[in-house]
Amino acid sequence: MSSTYSIKFPKKVFSGEGSLAELKTIIHDTKATSVCLMTDEGIYGSGLLETPLLYIEETGLTPLVIHDIPREPSVYAVQDYHKKLSGEKVDLIVAVGGGSVIDMAKILSVTMTNPGLAEDLRKPDAIQKPSVPMVAVPTTSGTGAETTANAIFLYPEEDLKVGIISEYMIPDFVILDVSMTCKLPPGLTASTGVDALCHAMESYISILSNPFCKVFSLEAISLICRSIETAYRDGSNRQAREDMQLGAFYAGLCLTTSSTVAVHALSYPLGGKYHIPHGISNAILLPYVMKENLECCREAYTEIAPYMLSNAEQIPKEQWPEAVVDYLFALMKNLGIPDSLQEFGVHPEDLDYLTDNAVKVERLLLKNPKKLSKEDIKGIYKQLLQN
Ligand SMILES: NC(=O)c1ccc[n+]([C@@H]2O[C@H](COP(=O)([O-])OP(=O)(O)OC[C@H]3O[C@@H](n4cnc5c(N)ncnc54)[C@H](O)[C@@H]3O)[C@@H](O)[C@H]2O)c1
Ligand SMILES: [Fe+2]
Repeated sequence: MSSTYSIKFPKKVFSGEGSLAELKTIIHDTKATSVCLMTDEGIYGSGLLETPLLYIEETGLTPLVIHDIPREPSVYAVQDYHKKLSGEKVDLIVAVGGGSVIDMAKILSVTMTNPGLAEDLRKPDAIQKPSVPMVAVPTTSGTGAETTANAIFLYPEEDLKVGIISEYMIPDFVILDVSMTCKLPPGLTASTGVDALCHAMESYISILSNPFCKVFSLEAISLICRSIETAYRDGSNRQAREDMQLGAFYAGLCLTTSSTVAVHALSYPLGGKYHIPHGISNAILLPYVMKENLECCREAYTEIAPYMLSNAEQIPKEQWPEAVVDYLFALMKNLGIPDSLQEFGVHPEDLDYLTDNAVKVERLLLKNPKKLSKEDIKGIYKQLLQN
């Protein structure tokens, strides 16, 4: 099968424990004189900002620190921070955080160089000029935002989350230092880690899948599946944390040449209206959507099985597709992921709302290997509202 895809990556990646010190190299190489350091309250409160702050100060600079980026930010938050920064001279942005902080830093890096963009992020072709240079330091191992071209924001009036896409938002520098993820609590380790697994699996089965994506996808699946339960149970296990960090980064790389599919599509209304965090809604949906895709994906699941299942060799090969689905159900249980939406305030009477709004996420549904009918989508939500 032929495929065409373009490869666009961050310019430079520093990885390994201690690589955070490379912030000084970046500041030196970019000749930055005014650095803005961004994070959120959770990370700030946990003391994680101290080391990057120290490294920046060691270069003789005093960064402008923003430490209150909201979780799963709205478009209004983008406008507020854009306003705050408009009087400042910033020539390097350093984002220390999960997808919420990195997405905010990505969009601000282009609102600062593209006049008028902050007023309407969705204006077609609004992003014409390169961004202010940016460094992403991920502290969750999930979204892959450190390498993707998109940033996601809530439009509260429309109960909608929208992805803004531009290659100028691919961070210039990425620092993968495991010491930044070790304090991530178990619940967030599980849900953000499953988000990364979704990226790896969905991009593999997407109709946009390609040989490049498949290499990184299988490696991401292998790293994540061998370490996610250990990282969840024992957050101080460095090897497991390193595997998760690299796995999430590889899964992000997959998204740049392929796409997510129905898991993320059905997740959108759950984030938009019910404000279920991105990782959790994807994790709840993953086994159910992959079960729905089973018959269309027997070959793909057979290819994935040896990377995902530690006991694949003991299972007859023709049963590997079912074993992959069984593994996903068992994994969510082991990670304490709920198998019901009811505890998030979503009830059976919301079924039509969810279905109608998921159907609108054509951008992703059209890339799902099985063409899902409205009834198929309703059927998936229904199972999650009955439990
Ligand atoms: N740009 C992309 O490619 C992309 C892809 C998927 C999702 N997203 C978006 O990313 C956001 C979700 O990001 P996320 O799942 O990484 O979570 P997050 O950034 O929202 O963080 C979740 C919570 O974890 C805390 N936290 C993060 N790192 C920590 C650490 N090391 N120790 C202790 N606490 C820590 C934060 O303070 C926060 O309260 C959503 O808005 C989602 O839509 C973006
Ligand atoms: Fe995601």
